[in-house]
Amino acid sequence: MALQVAGGAPHHLGVPRRRQRCAALRPPRVASESAAKPVEEDGSNKAVLGGSGVAVTKLGIGAWSWGDTTYWNDFQWDDRKLKAAKGAFDASVDSGITFFDTAEVYGAGVSGAINSESLLGRFIKERQQKEKVEVAIATKFAALPWRFGRGSVLAALKGSLSRLGVSSVESYQLHWPGIWGNEGYLDGLADAYEQGLVKSVGVSNYSEKRLRDAYDRLKQRGVPLASNQVNYSLIYRNPEENGVKAACDELGITLIAYSPIAQGALTGKYTPENPPTGPRGRIYTPEFLTKLQPLINKIKEIGGSYDKTPTQVVLNWLMCQGNVVPIPGAKNAEQAREFAGALGWSLTGDEVEEMRSMAREVKPVMGFPVERL
Ligand SMILES: NC(=O)c1ccc[n+]([C@@H]2O[C@H](COP(=O)([O-])OP(=O)(O)OC[C@H]3O[C@@H](n4cnc5c(N)ncnc54)[C@H](OP(=O)(O)O)[C@@H]3O)[C@@H](O)[C@H]2O)c1
Repeated sequence: MALQVAGGAPHHLGVPRRRQRCAALRPPRVASESAAKPVEEDGSNKAVLGGSGVAVTKLGIGAWSWGDTTYWNDFQWDDRKLKAAKGAFDASVDSGITFFDTAEVYGAGVSGAINSESLLGRFIKERQQKEKVEVAIATKFAALPWRFGRGSVLAALKGSLSRLGVSSVESYQLHWPGIWGNEGYLDGLADAYEQGLVKSVGVSNYSEKRLRDAYDRLKQRGVPLASNQVNYSLIYRNPEENGVKAACDELGITLIAYSPIAQGALTGKYTPENPPTGPRGRIYTPEFLTKLQPLINKIKEIGGSYDKTPTQVVLNWLMCQGNVVPIPGAKNAEQAREFAGALGWSLTGDEVEEMRSMAREVKPVMGFPVERL
């Protein structure tokens, strides 16, 4: 059965209705009939995480930067940034985006930082004091080398649930493969699922081989592996090349795309004259941004015909691949609102391919080394 991407007519009125939508580009399903339908086909704004039955919005919001002082926020967290992050949360909910991704290690362990799970929990609680909101939370277990066995997963999860102030989460993911102990971690995930502490289980930064092994091991316990969260954007297409995307499609596992706007580089706001500051400046250098410029110009041109921004175009491009839920990070309300405009329309198949082909001219940036574990 074919996977579906966001339905609806293009936003821009001048676009001919007969343009072939990107949905036609979706790779043929090779999964068996019993494989899960990762994305709903009814045109709603929800996607189902793998075979778990857990529905989340087709686009989520990443909360790594909330409270973080190691990579984001110029190494400082303050009340102004806190207010902006709360604004991002509220604007997301107001825009109908209710899927949030965090991790126990985000904003943890460094002086001046605040744990992202605690912030998300606080934002949810404050919002729920005003009205009832349905929020889906994904968080992650850190496979630190000194953590052994299935018990470590349950212990860490209980810490996360307590910081989040909830009794269960919609998704619990192994943040990266452990150097050892992976089988125990998978057993721990299955224990958490059986105990009702998590509604679905996932992995992150898993190679095709690790993904297949994890899928098989969980299957033996009757637990569906719902998602693999990996670095995926127009300029970081490793999942298309290393077998991960194809394996996700085959097994009915949702691919959750992290850093989907290349940490801001694909928004068009960073230029050779105005590169990002902090650690990102070492990745998205003026030289890299110079090479990126023709692609950004093309994205702007295509976006112009839909009245869409580059950010919305590149997020739509990802969703056009089918079976992909992007989770861009929002630091403030404005950024979160902009993400919502990536939903409800779609690029044509030709546009998707044209962008991919131009992106091939840009040398990929270095990924997170744990992908190669
Ligand atoms: N599983 C993993 O190992 C892993 C690794 C990385 C990330 N993640 C998850 O994926 C999420 C997203 O990834 P990411 O934060 O690395 O990168 P990203 O989503 O590609 O980029 C986020 C950054 O782009 C900028 N931005 C956001 N919206 C914008 C807009 N509308 N216009 C202009 N700039 C905008 C913001 O930074 P500035 O405003 O400072 O430019 C923001 O912090 C994370 O929050 C986290 O939940 C997971």
